[in-house]
Amino acid sequence: MKAIVITNPGGPEVLKLQERDTPQPKPNEVLIRVKAAGVNRPDVFQRKGNYPPPANAPQDIPGLEVAGIIEEKGPEVTQWNVGDAVCALLNGGGYAGFAVAEAAQCLPVPKGWSFVEAASLPETVFTVWQNVFERGGLKAGEKFLVHGGSSGIGITAIQLAKAFGAEVYATAGSDDKCKACEDLGAKRSINYKTEDFEEVLKDIGIDVILDMIGGGYIEKNIRLLNPDGRLVYINAMNGSKAEIDVQEIMRKRLTLTGSTLRNRDAVFKAQLSASILKNVWPVLESGKFKPVVYKTFKLEDAAAAHQLMESSEHIGKIMLEV
Ligand SMILES: NC(=O)c1ccc[n+]([C@@H]2O[C@H](COP(=O)([O-])OP(=O)(O)OC[C@H]3O[C@@H](n4cnc5c(N)ncnc54)[C@H](OP(=O)(O)O)[C@@H]3O)[C@@H](O)[C@H]2O)c1
Repeated sequence: MKAIVITNPGGPEVLKLQERDTPQPKPNEVLIRVKAAGVNRPDVFQRKGNYPPPANAPQDIPGLEVAGIIEEKGPEVTQWNVGDAVCALLNGGGYAGFAVAEAAQCLPVPKGWSFVEAASLPETVFTVWQNVFERGGLKAGEKFLVHGGSSGIGITAIQLAKAFGAEVYATAGSDDKCKACEDLGAKRSINYKTEDFEEVLKDIGIDVILDMIGGGYIEKNIRLLNPDGRLVYINAMNGSKAEIDVQEIMRKRLTLTGSTLRNRDAVFKAQLSASILKNVWPVLESGKFKPVVYKTFKLEDAAAAHQLMESSEHIGKIMLEV
């Protein structure tokens, strides 16, 4: 099969199309003929050598999510049949003609969605459902702030929070990105290059914050949170260290938490997948959530897709079509 391989740690140019053996599914896995794969920021970190894949993933083929057709299945797989159209969260290996996935980490392609659209879902939906709703406990009527609102994660967080009845705020790095966040359901989006989000939101107060930026945002987030507020970290792209006033955490009874998805075990991911099928899939199929695909590249042009991601010009998801 054709696959995009990280030939060395480095810039986008280290991604090369090569011929590889088609992987074989284990008893509880399916082999997917990949139609489309999502590009995620963690793929960029992996390409640079800063985010080693887990031992059970292909070591040099990136790709955390795909959509396609089940070509083969292991003997223990009962819930899927050969020929089913699925999207799947992978441990790696998605930038390829075929990928293996745990059967329990596959979900049906939502009705009316294309393969490219369906492949844009797993990584961000799993991350947002786990961190905003399960870990952060966001409820209807609460105020929710997501930083990086125009990222793949951001567009998913805005739409799901809105669909579940929260009042949504976002930050992003340009007026166009802010407009896109508001078009997706944010009540107010703040261009952090021209406005201070803490100043804008301090009289509103926020119940749950999803942050991937860290750095100078950490103290501001803590100050913005309402009593019993929750601050959830999924990355800290601008730095992971800050001085925190523990008195403020006690006084407001705050919860500071966070998680990384990729290193969680298969049992956890299967439970998360079941929860998403029950709670999120009806929202996707109701039309309250729309895929936001910024640009689709051919598999062989994965380097250009990474270049675009690193420019941070995009709004929403960057995809590869096989
Ligand atoms: N913990 C987990 O399980 C998990 C899972 C998936 C993703 N993540 C993390 O979630 C974040 C978003 O992922 P994604 O795939 O949605 O990414 P993405 O689409 O590439 O978006 C990242 C956005 O963050 C903003 N940004 C602000 N400061 C930045 C900086 N120092 N470097 C790069 N970008 C910066 C940029 O928009 P502006 O123009 O608005 O600045 C950029 O478009 C990433 O940090 C990723 O590692 C975590």
